[in-house]
Amino acid sequence: MALIDNIPALLEEVRSLQAASPTELEELRIKYLSKKGLIPQLMNEFREVSADRKRELGVAINNLKTAAQDRINALREQLSEQQNATEKPDLTRTAYPTPLGTRHPLSIVREEIIDIFSRLGFCLADGPEIEDDWHVFGSMNFADDHPARDMQDTFFIEAHPDIILRTHTSSVQSRVMERQQPPIRVICPGRVYRNETISARAHCFFHQVEGLYIDEKVSFTDLKQVLLLFAQEMFGKDTKIRLRPSYFPFTEPSAEMDISCNICGGKGCSFCKQTGWVEILGCGMVDPAVLEANGIDSTRYTGYAFGMGVERITNLKYQVKDLRLFSENDKRFLEEFQSAN
Ligand code: DAH
Repeated sequence: MALIDNIPALLEEVRSLQAASPTELEELRIKYLSKKGLIPQLMNEFREVSADRKRELGVAINNLKTAAQDRINALREQLSEQQNATEKPDLTRTAYPTPLGTRHPLSIVREEIIDIFSRLGFCLADGPEIEDDWHVFGSMNFADDHPARDMQDTFFIEAHPDIILRTHTSSVQSRVMERQQPPIRVICPGRVYRNETISARAHCFFHQVEGLYIDEKVSFTDLKQVLLLFAQEMFGKDTKIRLRPSYFPFTEPSAEMDISCNICGGKGCSFCKQTGWVEILGCGMVDPAVLEANGIDSTRYTGYAFGMGVERITNLKYQVKDLRLFSENDKRFLEEFQSAN
């Protein structure tokens, strides 16, 4: 079939031409418009057509030529725009400030805790969140049938009853003792898990910072002094502490520490349930049985330990009323900590 009978199809074809690069575009130009291209060939065939069809076909060929030129010019324009966009940044544009993210409130407080204890000579230590029963309970002096195991609602890995999600960072105490002899002076920040129903006041995971100091002649007085200093650095110079006798399997004697409520200044408010005091940590002298279980000579060394909840301290500092806010990633909440960075 002669080209000339095909003009309507060719017109369709040129109107929908595409080119992904200048080379492809040049190939199209050659195919349709160059001296030996399809359109000049059509012009040659045009010479042979009978006089009565000349008018009709002449118009059609002209239209086709214009359409091909227009389409190729449009594609050229399009390609050069794309090139400008990718290759030539506008150097005269003003440098808009890029908004920085905010630090998570728990990270801010954790860093502050670490900073205070670092100044007292404590090093950082960590251990796994997926732990074995020995490091979480056994080495911490929880007897197999010890009722204290019930204090913590543990997540177990079904296929491996010995493997659990750690319920406290006290497991890191054992991890440190098994690889290092005293003097030991570490703090261990980390995430812990408990099988609790999620509410404003409880969550299935939260964060703790554990402290451990073991050396010759470490006494309860040392513990009390360090905790007082910590409380005053964290909550202000006027903060008071009080220690109440308590029980933990891994410390003897054990205590819980309250600080004077920094929200009402000790006068009594809803946060401290009108008592003027809020509990922030557990502590005590490391039980000699724990030292022995972890390969440390309890006739030579003594030590103290403490463990605090990062959420609790953050609540006190920033008065966050609902624990769930810490893990929901609501930007409106997170952006409130912009200035605390
Ligand atoms: N492990 C305890 C808890 O999760 C906190 C704690 C209490 C840690 C006393 C200690 C300690 O190191 O001495 O509730």
